[in-house]
Amino acid sequence: MKALITSGGKGTRLRPITHTSNKHLIPIANKPMIHYAIEAVAGAGIQDIGIVYNPDTGDEIKDALGNGGQWGVRLTYILQEAPMGLAHVVKVSQDFIGGEPFVFYLGDNVVVGGITRFIEDFKREGSNCHLVLSKVHDPERFGVPEIRDGKIVSVEEKPKKPKSQYAVTGIYIYDSSVFEAVNHIKPSARGELEISDAHDYLIGHGYKVGYSEITGWWKDTGKPEDLLEANRLTLDRVIGDDEPVINGDVDEDSDIAGKVIIGKGAKIIKSSIRGPVIIGENTVIENSYIGPFTSIYYGCHIKNSEVEYSIVLEKCRIIDADVRIERSLLGREAEIVKCYSKPRTQKFIIGDQSIVELV
Ligand code: G1P
Repeated sequence: MKALITSGGKGTRLRPITHTSNKHLIPIANKPMIHYAIEAVAGAGIQDIGIVYNPDTGDEIKDALGNGGQWGVRLTYILQEAPMGLAHVVKVSQDFIGGEPFVFYLGDNVVVGGITRFIEDFKREGSNCHLVLSKVHDPERFGVPEIRDGKIVSVEEKPKKPKSQYAVTGIYIYDSSVFEAVNHIKPSARGELEISDAHDYLIGHGYKVGYSEITGWWKDTGKPEDLLEANRLTLDRVIGDDEPVINGDVDEDSDIAGKVIIGKGAKIIKSSIRGPVIIGENTVIENSYIGPFTSIYYGCHIKNSEVEYSIVLEKCRIIDADVRIERSLLGREAEIVKCYSKPRTQKFIIGDQSIVELV
């Protein structure tokens, strides 16, 4: 069995972060999101993995993932000239896949508990296509299956009136009949070859389409609030120990409680940290409070400030911020600092499509 993992797409709902960085490299609990996909696939014993990339972000992805050696897998990079839909991703990967069954995994989906169970279901049921479903409160954002008598009878992409409460998640398992589907369907109204249309084609042409339900949690990290939620859930589960893991320096005036990981070379001075929290290498936290569900990446400096339920990317500076920063996503090298010079006004240098909420 092989696997395909997506690493392209525009990530428009995560701008401005995605103006300068590939969405799949945004860290969740201080680890690039796409690592979780590779780990899930490698954890299921699959060693031959195709990473599908778009021309504009390919180098960044290749630099970040290399040849896969760190996971004990072999990565092959497959170019998709333009983001023309997920069924198009499958289409351009036909040579790599050959005649083998494969897992198609969207690199921006985060799931806890691995994917081995779904592969076993696919094999046991002898399906041509196996979909992984998750119950959601907003199915209209996703591909939605219609289920009758325990069988999927249709799949519709982002329907106005969903026929079930389920989302088709970004984890699919196929045999080679999917290539017949992706080579026959036509682009949708938004000009893409939709993966849901490929599924609907398979159902309509008598192929066996089975499903499993995710009983734990799953996140498609399309929007900033999804990222924060994925970060919360991941921190809570990934940091297994209730005892802090401290690889940096914590002075005696600091107080660290709960699940906390502090990276090498990090310094915690006169600060309170309430886990689950992860602090990256060489980050300095001074006279500050870091509250639950916060990931602070490497090389940051936080002084006289409070941060909670947030993701802070590398080399950010938060200095003397008067109000607690919460539910925030800070891009690389972003600065939030108090102004001491006159006139004391609010000053912003904000990238395109940034969002600032003031109190
Ligand atoms: C894509 C698929 C959709 C699926 C979702 C899962 O949507 O088209 O069927 O439910 O991934 O993450 P997109 O994230 O491209 O809007």
